[in-house]
Amino acid sequence: MISTFASQALRPTILEIDLDAAAANMRAIRELVGPHRQIFAVVKADGYGYGAAEVGAVFLGHGADALAVADLSEGIRLRSAGIAAPILIYPNSLPEVAHEIVRHGLLPVLVDLASARAHANAAAEPCDVFVSIDVSYAGVGIPAEQAAKFIMDMLELPHLRLAGICAHGHTHGDDRPYVEWQLHRFTAVVDELEAGGVTVPIRLLAASPFVLRFPETYLNAVEPGRILYGITYAGEKSPVPLRQVFHSLSTRVIAIQKIKTPARFAELAPFPVMAPMRVGVIPLGSADGLKWLNAGRVLVQGRPVSIIGNPSLEHTRIDLTEVPEARIGDEIVIIGRQGDAEITVTEVVERHGLGLNQLATTIGPRVTRVYRNMRSDSAIQPE
Ligand SMILES: Cc1ncc(COP(=O)(O)O)c(C=O)c1O
Repeated sequence: MISTFASQALRPTILEIDLDAAAANMRAIRELVGPHRQIFAVVKADGYGYGAAEVGAVFLGHGADALAVADLSEGIRLRSAGIAAPILIYPNSLPEVAHEIVRHGLLPVLVDLASARAHANAAAEPCDVFVSIDVSYAGVGIPAEQAAKFIMDMLELPHLRLAGICAHGHTHGDDRPYVEWQLHRFTAVVDELEAGGVTVPIRLLAASPFVLRFPETYLNAVEPGRILYGITYAGEKSPVPLRQVFHSLSTRVIAIQKIKTPARFAELAPFPVMAPMRVGVIPLGSADGLKWLNAGRVLVQGRPVSIIGNPSLEHTRIDLTEVPEARIGDEIVIIGRQGDAEITVTEVVERHGLGLNQLATTIGPRVTRVYRNMRSDSAIQPE
């Protein structure tokens, strides 16, 4: 494996991630929901692009009881990184992976009987499972009205033990009756199960929008994702302070090309050539997500300069004509601060119609994730 230092040296394009912010956000959410509820910190999509193992370890160190991921591969990666806490696997797998889920001690979220049977067959001893129920229009799960019967049928299978039920609550804002309808559909399933003698140990309904606005949905466990990364949307007010985990996206100048005029075939150049130019090349291109990540300009020596032409898969050109002091090796900020200048995350996502929670997932895997403020209490240590 190439170390972080070596990969930066090979290609100096980095996403800097603030682990102090991740820790502070986790503590703030723990404070908000109280000490007795379980918190499943959602680190799917590789921790919303910030690195599931690194941010997950910080969340676990600062108040989370468990992590939640999208699928088996993400769960295995966390186990390989040494994370021993409970890990919930959302329903994105086919029944044939049940053996692997059981083998790695992961907590599957089931939504059909075929998967339930596969887990029952794979397990040799009691196997904790969650069932997802659909209470809104946004979740994947058994429709709430059929869920209690499904769960009772499922519990007839050998080995399976109900660890909890979960649902992905949904809201556009302050639409309280919509939220109350979902809460009622959820608690009706719990009531029906308990009336039938089935205990529901963990009840998970509240993701970020509910955690921010609707304490009545906290039940005995919550599963926030984006707010742990400091992501809130316009019009959303957080009752606790949250900080952006995103710090900056930057690279360095790797080549400078001078263009003299008149230049032959200038009219065929991939960018307008009207006068002598100094063109800088940066090692970040469309395969790294640059199409969606740019503000049309970048910062060099604390000043904005334009991106010119279309990026290739790995390179982008910038106009250094007005910054004659710029040199090979200079830092180029794509998003973030440099001196007094700044290109904000909000500006970039609004320009491209990107969700804030998609920002870091759009930054390709070739971009080295660099962790600021790596905690000495983190399970994961810098290389
Ligand atoms: C099932 C489920 N629960 C919780 C979350 C966390 O959502 P959020 O990032 O809005 O907190 C997600 C993410 O979309 C999810 O799919």
